Amino acid sequence: MTITNILVFFIFVLPFTFAELRVGFYTSTCPGAETIVREVVQRHFNQDNSIVGGLLRLHFHDCFVRGCDASILIDPTRNRTSEKNAGPNRTARGFEIIDDAKAVLEQECPLRVSCADIIALATRDAVEMAGGIRYRIPTGRKDGLLSDPELVKLPSPSLSVSGALQFFTAKGLTLEDMVTLLGGHTVGFAHCSMFQNRLSAIQGGVNPSMDPTLEARLEQICELRRAPNSDPLVFLDQNTSFTFDNEFYNQMILKRGVLHIDQQLALDPLSMDMVQNLATDDSLFQEKFANAMIKMGSIGVLDENEGEVRSNCRAFNRPL
Ligand code: HEM
Ligand SMILES: *[C@@H]1O[C@H](CO)[C@@H](O)[C@H](O)[C@H]1NC(C)=O
Ligand SMILES: *[C@@H]1O[C@H](CO)[C@@H](O)[C@H](O)[C@H]1NC(C)=O
Ligand SMILES: *[C@@H]1O[C@H](CO)[C@@H](O)[C@H](O)[C@H]1NC(C)=O
Repeated sequence: MTITNILVFFIFVLPFTFAELRVGFYTSTCPGAETIVREVVQRHFNQDNSIVGGLLRLHFHDCFVRGCDASILIDPTRNRTSEKNAGPNRTARGFEIIDDAKAVLEQECPLRVSCADIIALATRDAVEMAGGIRYRIPTGRKDGLLSDPELVKLPSPSLSVSGALQFFTAKGLTLEDMVTLLGGHTVGFAHCSMFQNRLSAIQGGVNPSMDPTLEARLEQICELRRAPNSDPLVFLDQNTSFTFDNEFYNQMILKRGVLHIDQQLALDPLSMDMVQNLATDDSLFQEKFANAMIKMGSIGVLDENEGEVRSNCRAFNRPL
């Protein structure tokens, strides 16, 4: 190597190799990082096994606004709004799990492990605890310096498959990625307000795209038991609601989808064959899901020069 080659390597090549995510990014800088996150997630999971849904959705929303940069975690201040001020924020959950992991990590190895990586790792661990396969998730994300409610543009549950797909292709994901990632709806809840327009009592007819037994039950939950200003919750997967498995797809084939977009996956010719394949083969689903999560987890990641490692996941290191 000539001196010029060496200079070129250190000045131009090295900074870009740092931008790449890799498995075991913290092996030398914070060897306990992945274990620490896992222990915190396990503690929360033991108390409340519904955290899986919260973390998965948090990760998805984080990655789909700008990129996986923990912008979703920033709290608004008196001077500045944040993504938490945007509409879809209201039901995002799991923030305290990230805070707990961060607190331990700051004691163990201060300013090393990004909040964006904590979200990705915690989600991976929670999926496994609920019955998913453990996948190796590349790390090395930096935390972003911007959290703007105006930038929160997430797909609506009332979209068609092709309408929702536009949000995914804009992030470099495919139809297959989308159909697989929506399998994340095998856990978690939705509020009545997110699917109420599908219930026939409100539309004054029968909804041919929903199992009548389910429809009657949802109508009851969403109308009869509804107190003023309340927005009841129902499971997204009617059968194995807390298990991370492919049963979601079987439920869609049985017209037991709660969200319009979920039901459309099984009805739209664009996606119905994929749904059939995923419904019959859990290992296929698990493998595809892991790969799609790794892909989603690499959307718009920031490198050393574009981001920081926050000491508190809810605030930028230098708040404005
Ligand atoms: C077209 C794309 C998507 C749409 C329209 C969509 C829509 C929704 C809606 C409306 C809810 C209910 C929220 C509430 O009422 O609180 C929800 C929940 C959820 N979503 Fe999605 N979603 C999409 C993609 C994804 C992806 C890619 C993932 C993860 C891989 C995901 C994971 C979840 C989970 C786990 C929940 C349950 C949240 C909880 O239990 O708190 N979603 N989604
Ligand atoms: C808000 O802005 C003022 C002046 O611009 C500054 O003194 C104050 O520290 C800021 N507050 C927060 C919470 O960032
Ligand atoms: C989320 O945004 C709404 C406005 O759409 C706001 O009223 C609410 O306080 C926000 N929630 C949080 C936790 O910041
Ligand atoms: C529920 O899921 C189990 C396990 O995946 C399956 O064997 C069963 O047939 C499902 N039941 C219904 C009613 O969908």
